[in-house]
Amino acid sequence: NGPMKLGLAGLGTVGASLARLIHEKHNALAARSGRAINLVALSARDRTRDRGFDASGCEWFTDPVKLATEGNIDVFVELIGGAEGAALESVKAALNRGLPVVTANKALLAYHGVALAKLAQRKNTTILFEAAVAGGIPIIKTMREALAGNTVDRVYGILNGTCNYILTRMEREGMSFSDCLSDAQRLGYAEADPTFDIGGFDAAHKLAILTSLAFGCEIDLESVFVEGIEKVESADIEAAAELGYRIKLLAVAQRTDTGIEQRVHPAMLPEHAALAKVDGVTNAVAIDTDLLGSILLAGPGAGGNATASAVLSDIVDLATGAHLPALGVQPSNLSPYKRARMR
Ligand code: HSE
Repeated sequence: NGPMKLGLAGLGTVGASLARLIHEKHNALAARSGRAINLVALSARDRTRDRGFDASGCEWFTDPVKLATEGNIDVFVELIGGAEGAALESVKAALNRGLPVVTANKALLAYHGVALAKLAQRKNTTILFEAAVAGGIPIIKTMREALAGNTVDRVYGILNGTCNYILTRMEREGMSFSDCLSDAQRLGYAEADPTFDIGGFDAAHKLAILTSLAFGCEIDLESVFVEGIEKVESADIEAAAELGYRIKLLAVAQRTDTGIEQRVHPAMLPEHAALAKVDGVTNAVAIDTDLLGSILLAGPGAGGNATASAVLSDIVDLATGAHLPALGVQPSNLSPYKRARMR
């Protein structure tokens, strides 16, 4: 097999980490994949910034859509972010060309995942997204592959690293909400617009994707109830602690008699519960199934290397020829979504 040529659009925290790792781990990745993985084309807004890797061998595109359309590449990696605009247009362009896409973009998938998966299917290619949910935790592959024989009753957990980081430091160090948020931004955890984090929307995007995989329905962001952590004050955290509880931003999807309920909101958890002990930028996802009972996966939910680790797993899958259908959406199993709004 010849080398696999990657085109990467977006050189923010995750994109820059990915580019560095592809260079640093070149030999190990080649050994794992049976072929070299080469970064050959890049697109980002600012060409001049030093991002800690040598980009001189890469073709540079100012316009990511042009990279997706004209780049001499085998795989398009989208790490631009945002549900619309350049991210959406470049992913569509790559799929239309029949190129496989790897993305970490949960907002894009939450809004357009079903349409993009169908486009990928029509073009006989795929879109992989391990990095889109819970950063480095291998939750997508777990859901799609390891749990394939299970019936899921409930999936729930902590899906936003920024919020968990803020809540943890407010509680442990008595820091103010805004100081915690500034630190989370400085450390590269927060979204470009942190309202998506603290408003609960980022967790909702991720939950909608997880729900679709867990229950075999199309993604339905509209029916997620969302409340963020903006109104959580130090006094709330202290009062909860006095009663033996900790406040977490929880994301829950579960089967009910009336359909699948999806919700994101702050919740008081008994301090001895496993999820209550999840601190800092860590995410954790619990899954209740018929065959396993309950399993819990925990690990870094945001940050450059952690998220790039998940992107790399998809790239290696493509290099080895493992070819899962996009989003697991098959024309035969597109069941209508039952809605369960919170009142
Ligand atoms: N802003 C996100 C978070 C990044 O804090 O969890 C990972 O998706």
